[in-house]
Amino acid sequence: MAAATTGMPMLAALAILVLVPSARGLDRAEFLPGFLFGVATSAYQIEGAYLEDGKGLSNWDVFTHTRSRGIDDGRNGDVADDHYHRYMDVEIIHSLGVNSYRFSISWARILPRGRLGGVNSAGIAFYDRLIDALVQKGIEPFVTLHHFDLPHEMETRYGGWLGAGIREEFDYYADVCFKAFGDRVKFWTTINEPNLFTRLAYVLGKYPPARCSAPFGTCESGNSHHEPYVAAHNMLLLHAAAVHNYKKNYQATQGGSIGIVIAMKWYEPLMNTTEDILAARRALSFEVDWFLEPIFFGDYPGEMHELLSSNLPKFTSEEKSLLRKNKADFIGINHYTTIYVKDCISSPCDLNTYETYEGNALVLATGERDGVAIGKPTAFDGYYDVPEGMEQIVKYVNQRYKNTPVYVTENGYSQHSNNTMDELINDVERVNYLQGYLTCLSSAVRKGANVRGYFVWSIIDNFEWTFGFTVRFGLYHVDYETQKRTPKMSAKWYRDFLMGSRPTDQVQTLRADS
Ligand code: BGC
Repeated sequence: MAAATTGMPMLAALAILVLVPSARGLDRAEFLPGFLFGVATSAYQIEGAYLEDGKGLSNWDVFTHTRSRGIDDGRNGDVADDHYHRYMDVEIIHSLGVNSYRFSISWARILPRGRLGGVNSAGIAFYDRLIDALVQKGIEPFVTLHHFDLPHEMETRYGGWLGAGIREEFDYYADVCFKAFGDRVKFWTTINEPNLFTRLAYVLGKYPPARCSAPFGTCESGNSHHEPYVAAHNMLLLHAAAVHNYKKNYQATQGGSIGIVIAMKWYEPLMNTTEDILAARRALSFEVDWFLEPIFFGDYPGEMHELLSSNLPKFTSEEKSLLRKNKADFIGINHYTTIYVKDCISSPCDLNTYETYEGNALVLATGERDGVAIGKPTAFDGYYDVPEGMEQIVKYVNQRYKNTPVYVTENGYSQHSNNTMDELINDVERVNYLQGYLTCLSSAVRKGANVRGYFVWSIIDNFEWTFGFTVRFGLYHVDYETQKRTPKMSAKWYRDFLMGSRPTDQVQTLRADS
């Protein structure tokens, strides 16, 4: 670990000192025994080996190869972190003292051609080895079935998420996974951030299959007002079917639980007016309740019906009952940032400034009020360091969804890759960010929030979708030429927190090292 702190500029050490007051009270012992503390990744972002051992092509393999202009540095996940060949990653995870690891399974590695082809035994063997290695070290596998990478064949056969045929395919895939890994996996999530990737794929046209329409983007085809809701509708129904299958056929014998992960920002009204307050509420509805209301209560939120009318698909009464009877056991929250929103109903907003999905909710999102940013900007466009949002979003979800257990399945901080190695390794800002967000989470827990786990995104720098390798979220730095992993200051900070050192002790240590 010494490498992470040597050479840390005095200025960086001073910066930590300044931040100590807001971190007071952060102590692992405040979280319930059994609370899961972990780190997270996803298959396409780290595995590489994109054509090895019988894996089929995924939508991201094809997209990055055919439309590399859509990726900031024109690169792809062909090799990424080469995690497929590096079991040492489990050692790194273990060395942090976490008790859980969240990762996703590559659907195309398990079923290269979907349900009409065979199961790829090498793919099963890869995840078997990974899961066994984790379990042997006392690390709970927390498994996502779908994290943005879809077998390409699903796109050609059904039009991806737009075709109802995807439902049976997912059901089959989920069943193969429950059967193969469910003896050791006790935490399943069906889909990672269906709300976010639907927006990026079918509203803005930035993720595969890159479909959209004006004013949201320029694509060869698509309909940004309708298709995202069709895709989401299929996802909700296939989620419910997989939950039904798990609960009926596996839960009693395997003893696990199953949920879904939603991307959740916290929204603050831009001005203290009734219109903007309602707009902030509406933004949450279109982002969070869009998925959670059907899952918990069987239908979309009222505001969505009103504003979208016939663009919003309808559930039949059988589907409503399938949804209601198969509620998720827990809710995964991926939370990174808070932003302001402004109402666009009372006075129309300029459509050309609608960069975000919230456009369909008739709100405009912005990170600034009167030229002042809502929090410290991060390297990720539109993401700010606003720790208080963590407590707000957890409270919102608990209150609205009957105190269903919540896991914070992602939270993390990005750096620009073109920073110097010294800056990347001495990541004081990330320490500050994590400390702030965890402090607010512990405050929510103290006030009775039903939170059961927290995962840092990510254990290692990795392929950041359309940003390529231009930003880094890892606790460990990755040199993509040599695949060398180097712990950053934040890795040491997280480990010390998990081992029970108080953050104040931590600051002393870091100062001494400098
Ligand atoms: C996604 C991750 C991504 C992270 C940082 C989340 O939206 O689940 O795959 O790397 O945010 O952008």
